[in-house]
Amino acid sequence: MTDEASPLQPEASVEELAFEGALRPETLAEFVGQPRVRGQLELLLKAAALQQRAPDHILLAGPPGLGKTTLAMIIGNESGRAVRMASGPAIQHAGDLAAVLSALVPGEVLFVDEIHRMAKSAEEMLYLAMEDFRIDIMVGKGAGAASVPLELSPFTLVAATTRSGMLPAPLRDRFGFTAHLEFYSAEDLTRVVTRSAGMLDIQLTSAAAAELAKRSRGTPRIANRLLRRVRDWKLVHEGSSDIEAVHGALELYDVDAYGLDRLDRSVLEAIAKSFKGGPVGLTTLAASVGEEAETIESVVEPYLVREGLLARTPRGRMLTSEGLRHTGIDGSPDQLDGV
Ligand SMILES: Nc1ncnc2c1ncn2[C@@H]1O[C@H](COP(=O)(O)OP(=O)(O)OP(=O)(O)O)[C@@H](O)[C@H]1O
Ligand SMILES: [Mg+2]
Repeated sequence: MTDEASPLQPEASVEELAFEGALRPETLAEFVGQPRVRGQLELLLKAAALQQRAPDHILLAGPPGLGKTTLAMIIGNESGRAVRMASGPAIQHAGDLAAVLSALVPGEVLFVDEIHRMAKSAEEMLYLAMEDFRIDIMVGKGAGAASVPLELSPFTLVAATTRSGMLPAPLRDRFGFTAHLEFYSAEDLTRVVTRSAGMLDIQLTSAAAAELAKRSRGTPRIANRLLRRVRDWKLVHEGSSDIEAVHGALELYDVDAYGLDRLDRSVLEAIAKSFKGGPVGLTTLAASVGEEAETIESVVEPYLVREGLLARTPRGRMLTSEGLRHTGIDGSPDQLDGV
């Protein structure tokens, strides 16, 4: 057994990371889809290059698996700068951040993944670092404590978050540019699948690639992962057609015709059955499907909302009529009472 994640989870496991590394586009031109973000980044990087300065700080926001880490690497590549990696959860104290910042070489890109999970004290240190390339370090304790200023090398902060709403406004405001990554269209995901199939030497008809793309939850990571399961299916079921392989693999991994996975469906069903279509609060909903509220909010809901199956209202989460239809439960209030 490997610790490979289920193809249904948008987050990556350890084995997945190695595989993703191989398929990761290295230039903006190779990066499929997201035309707005690509255009915006291109302009920003070109202008910085013309003025021979470090590019502005960039925040990459969006659900898991849409290409935030990929873009951070591309930003380094395209601007010819080395990328240092750090991650929010590993920055537990301001001192952790001070160590990272003071080790930067002039012009480097500092990539901070999951920045919303960084310690508060570090956040405040980061404000000053981003603005003035300077930090204040506390030396000593108690009455004798003093703050010593430390000059930093100019750097570009590239930060990623699946929960931009959790970032305090002063931090969000200090980024020169925020890229909001959107779920990919079926056409763009088809290009992702075709590109990956080519790189992995998997033969796939264009109809099969399109079907796989349509059912990949608008997410390149999921498309790539399901592609590997389709490859497995073709290996094991010799002689099956590509489209049979796609249907077979997706059914086996519980991906429905919409591309919804089991957790997506259990959220929809819980709202329909236990909460009569809503509204229901996030924590109550999360408890009823046995998941963390954060997972529901940052992984499950964005896609259901974008597909028009779920609505977030001030009173809580509600099914849309389309969402209700998807659960296959009859929508009249009497019937909802009975389930
Ligand atoms: N635009 C794209 N074109 C082609 N492949 C892509 C694109 N975006 C993402 N991918 C593929 O999807 C994988 C996952 O992307 P990435 O790791 O950048 O997601 P992420 O947004 O950082 O996710 P997380 O929030 O979980 O860290 C990449 O390894 C790459 O293979
Ligand atoms: Mg990432």
